[in-house]
Amino acid sequence: MFSFVPRPTMSDPSQIDQDSSTYQTVNDLLNLSIPFGDDVAVRGWLRSRRSSKGGFSFLQVYDGSCLQTIQAIADDKLENYDAITQASTGCSVEILGRLVATDGRDQDREIQATRVKILGSVDDPESYPISKKQHTYEFLRSVAHLRPRTNTFGAIARIRHKLTFAVHDYFNRENFYWVNTPIITASDCEGAGELFRVSTLDRLHQANEAQEAKLDYEADFFGTETFLTVSGQLNLESYACALGKVYSFGPTFRAENSNTSRHLAEFWMIEPEVAFATLKDNAALAEDFLRHIIGYMLETCGDDLTFLADRVAPNLLDKLQGVVNTPFVHMTYSEAVKLLEDSDQAFEFPVKWGADLQSEHERFISEQVIKGPVVVTDYPREIKAFYMRLNDDQRTVAAMDVLVPGVGEIIGGSQREERLDILDQRMHSTLKDELWWYRDLRRYGTVPHAGFGLGLERLVLYITGMENIRDAIPFPRVPNNADF
Ligand code: 4AD
Ligand code: MG
Repeated sequence: MFSFVPRPTMSDPSQIDQDSSTYQTVNDLLNLSIPFGDDVAVRGWLRSRRSSKGGFSFLQVYDGSCLQTIQAIADDKLENYDAITQASTGCSVEILGRLVATDGRDQDREIQATRVKILGSVDDPESYPISKKQHTYEFLRSVAHLRPRTNTFGAIARIRHKLTFAVHDYFNRENFYWVNTPIITASDCEGAGELFRVSTLDRLHQANEAQEAKLDYEADFFGTETFLTVSGQLNLESYACALGKVYSFGPTFRAENSNTSRHLAEFWMIEPEVAFATLKDNAALAEDFLRHIIGYMLETCGDDLTFLADRVAPNLLDKLQGVVNTPFVHMTYSEAVKLLEDSDQAFEFPVKWGADLQSEHERFISEQVIKGPVVVTDYPREIKAFYMRLNDDQRTVAAMDVLVPGVGEIIGGSQREERLDILDQRMHSTLKDELWWYRDLRRYGTVPHAGFGLGLERLVLYITGMENIRDAIPFPRVPNNADF
């Protein structure tokens, strides 16, 4: 295993006279076979401190390397023992000592401290927002700069990191190339108009008249109206039609004014795009990808997932194991509509062939009926984007959404329209002008191809069992809130 050797420059030199190469992480101290009796050194923050009348203080130290704390015992022979007995939750500490065996309930080892330095104390411990007691997620959002210090948000951060790694690992092993699509773009891929404008012109903000605004764009930085991307798909198609299998993974922006527990204004999207692939291949890729990633998470994040299962979502581990073991259920949009119509469930939004499925419908199908992931295919053409391939029935397109319990839509994708004449029928003339290069892909060696988009935060929700997407990203961006 790779062991971390911190460099001396990482800390304030005035605070540290220990040889920096000998610091261990809490994870190493608990999980590497360091012989008992060895000198060890650790740096981190106090989760808690308890001082006994007998002259001992028990310090629980965490450093983010794992869920657990390591216990260090300080005794009153230490010269700064009085200060140690004042140290409160959240203090940063540096502890030198000996690793010794213990018959403690949770751990077989602890540190007998020979030196405890309080590096940073906590001003006014009474008002420290991250005390040991449990807080609501809503409260923790208001202290998003401190919430990673809680067990729950520490676990989510580690899981999110591992997920990111697993995504790249999966695609690399499957011979996909990571393509970095632009963040600033002139095109609205989804055509939903949920765009954030990018401009260097102050006057734009005051321009009310459409005409005036149009003139301004010509004088704007890019000489045209530009936005933050809602999806890298169109650019990805260009690379798929040259390199075969590609994907993008990066930030994505939507100015949809939906104040829900499933929408962010800034989120991370994973988008594979594959040449010579059909909708069936696309659905198979989505399923293989999800099952592989979730299996990997179960293997590598056991402690954090078990913690979340205890605290947040009781059936989490069974649910995730179920995804790994069970093939996904497939149904067409028409079958889904029939299923909803035949149910005696009362929905807020009416169910009707031709109307888009709402979150409540998606969740009913995956949570109540299937009780697992569902792939819904072949949606009405009118409710889907221009680039989706028209089916032979002329009424539906080769679209797919993957729905999962607790979240609803986690993946949206399709086979792309590769036939220029049909694509042209689905594009307005201005769109045709704007996307001349996209049309070129159909003029020069067109091939069937397909891809999908997966929102990383929705996947984090699903894997952690958390309920609000604002808790699945470190600093959420939502309507009326860009704090931190
Ligand atoms: O279904 P969407 O809009 O599909 C696309 O953007 C396609 N161009 C993707 C493709 O085929 N390459 O978005 C894809 C996924 C959704 O299923 C959802 O997981 C996530 O992106 N997503 C959001 N996540 C958080 N907040 C939002 N506002 C989201 N909008 C979409
Ligand atoms: Mg969608």
